Amino acid sequence: MYAAGLDGRVPALPTDPARLEAAARRVLPAHAFDYVAGGAGSGATMRANRAAFDRVGLVPRMLRGNHVRDWSTRLLGTWMPAPLLLGPVGVQSLLHDDGELATARAAAALGVPAVLSTASSHTTEEVAEASGRGPRWYQLYRPTDDDVTASLLARARAAGFTVLVVTLDTWTLGWRPRDLDRAYLPFLRGVGTAIPFSDPAFRAGLARSPEEDLGAAVRHRQRLFTGTAWGWDRLDRIRAQWEGPLVVKGIQRAEDAQLALRHGVDGVIVSNHGGRQVDRAIGALSALPGVVASVAGRVPVLFDSGIRTGADAAVALALGADAVLVGRPFAFGLALGGQAGVHHVVRCLLAELDTTLALAGYRDLAELRATEDVVAGAP
Ligand code: FNR
Repeated sequence: MYAAGLDGRVPALPTDPARLEAAARRVLPAHAFDYVAGGAGSGATMRANRAAFDRVGLVPRMLRGNHVRDWSTRLLGTWMPAPLLLGPVGVQSLLHDDGELATARAAAALGVPAVLSTASSHTTEEVAEASGRGPRWYQLYRPTDDDVTASLLARARAAGFTVLVVTLDTWTLGWRPRDLDRAYLPFLRGVGTAIPFSDPAFRAGLARSPEEDLGAAVRHRQRLFTGTAWGWDRLDRIRAQWEGPLVVKGIQRAEDAQLALRHGVDGVIVSNHGGRQVDRAIGALSALPGVVASVAGRVPVLFDSGIRTGADAAVALALGADAVLVGRPFAFGLALGGQAGVHHVVRCLLAELDTTLALAGYRDLAELRATEDVVAGAP
């Protein structure tokens, strides 16, 4: 693509993230675009996520002879070509008919893990099949019902998912004006519900089948998945139910990272859910160094919220993240081109990450992490 561009050929989809978003806006129904692009409240946290990146910078080194480079890493038993994952994004069939299947296929083709959301529009088993020989990570929104939790986890395990991501920050949905003004249409369309709706334990809690009484099924899902605050003891129960690596998503303070470690997690994700939950929370990148210092290498620290480019990913890695996740960028790619659109976005991120770190003078992640002077103050 890089060479094609220098040859005067324009790529099928924009490489610039702002243009990609603008193009997605033109093709998506308003409720679907708002669901992806929107955030909590005034959008202050979404803006803070971006602003936090503007306050740090790389200090490139020259003449390092780093023609050969390797960004591959093994994280929680998963090999990846670069420390990049596609974050869990629910209800993907709102964006493209193939939804999570397209995302899984594109990610698998590039060897990049795509984390499957509990709110997937395709079943766990279908997505597992679509991911072929690619890595499988499963994200849990913990239902209030223990039987449904056990059933979802058993299905994920049986379908070959190896890493469990437990999202802590969304025990109830954030105040999202753009979704509220559209009566949360994305959630009510029924299309984003295949994982719970296909689950035998979920269906057992319904008087009639979801097909017969969709309204009751949607209310049942809302009762099970939102509105009940839970404590660390509940995490212990999930920990006891999952033998493989377990990562918690939504950590923003060093104390919570410590608590998570005490409760036996194998990794933490510093994230504010892309600014979709607590409006006026600090930019997620500002929370990263404190958590990295407090975890002190005992488990991997992953990061998301606000990454739009490969250079953004480079900065988060330089600040100590072991890997990064993206949400909206690949969602817009999916909207514009299905599997090919996701593929395009991920390739751009990987290529820009390599170009950035190459020009900044690095050859692998160990070198990047060993360097203390890579991040300076505000440009
Ligand atoms: C999300 N996110 C999310 N997280 C999660 O744990 N389960 C989920 O089902 C969803 N669903 C979801 C839908 C949409 C449309 C978006 C944009 C995000 C949060 C996601 O995993 C990630 O934390 C953020 O998207 C990261 O921020 P950026 O990259 O979008 O800025």
